[in-house]
Amino acid sequence: MKHIITVEDIDADLISYMFPLYEECKRTRRTLDYLYNRLHNRLRGRLMITDFFEPSTRTRLSFEAAMSYLGGRVIGTENATEFSSIKKGESIADNFRVISGYCDIIVGRFLNEGDARIAADASLVPLINGGDGKGEHPTQALVDLFSIMEKFPDAEGLRVTFLGDNKHSRTVRSLARLLARFSCITEMNFIGPSEINISLKDFDYDIWESNVKLTCYNELLPMVIGCSDIVYVTRSQIERHYSENMDEGNFIFTPELADTMPEHGLILHPLPRRSELPVEVDNNPRAYYFQQAHNGLYVRMALLEALCLKN
Ligand code: NCD
Repeated sequence: MKHIITVEDIDADLISYMFPLYEECKRTRRTLDYLYNRLHNRLRGRLMITDFFEPSTRTRLSFEAAMSYLGGRVIGTENATEFSSIKKGESIADNFRVISGYCDIIVGRFLNEGDARIAADASLVPLINGGDGKGEHPTQALVDLFSIMEKFPDAEGLRVTFLGDNKHSRTVRSLARLLARFSCITEMNFIGPSEINISLKDFDYDIWESNVKLTCYNELLPMVIGCSDIVYVTRSQIERHYSENMDEGNFIFTPELADTMPEHGLILHPLPRRSELPVEVDNNPRAYYFQQAHNGLYVRMALLEALCLKN
């Protein structure tokens, strides 16, 4: 049985199984004929539970939409902290062991890093980590990866810059770990206020093992943005730290900065955004974050199919 807890659970086989499915779902989603005759039936009879202990818009709803489009069904809670027996003192392990007896697949979102692993160890069915504290967010990394693969199918020497709360963003950690495996990525830069930026000593071991050149900057250097093929902006994870000295004001990805990127550049953001990504950037032809969020539906359709049918 396969769980998706960290990006280590996403191997080359899974990516090559999923990518064509993703493209197929995306291409044919609006084709009613196709939808009703094929997609609609693939997971008929399957039941997915979503058990979320932290707020979510994109992850939960795109998973639920994905299962529904594939003909399966969905039950769950969007506020398990309040409305599940965890409120009565039940452990994560007991909670997931019980609900895994009611369904075929589970998507969970957790308050604490490491809870997804505990839940998976107790689960009788595949469990997908929809984010565990500041730990990992492997399915967002897949959404980001597929968005990049689609935009740069044959690229080499790609330079990626992460701008924002690189220390506490699980999306940054998962994506950086995943991208480090691809030889087309030659450089990763991490820009952010010192209180919330990652430093070289914080990197996971597997990133160091790659050949990617890693650099951290505690100031926003336009020159670095101007040389980046991809800029991945994140909001300050205010629910995970209370950094009083954090000066977001100097780290805003302004429309002027966006214009310095190469013409083929790609601006990504896992969303939700705050002040770090002004709405004025939305009109920039490189802005891709809303499409990126929409790609989440197709990525999750492909993943559900892979886990329910391939396992
Ligand atoms: C991210 C998350 O939950 O980590 N959101 C998402 O799933 N797209 C990013 C964030 O909350 O900042």
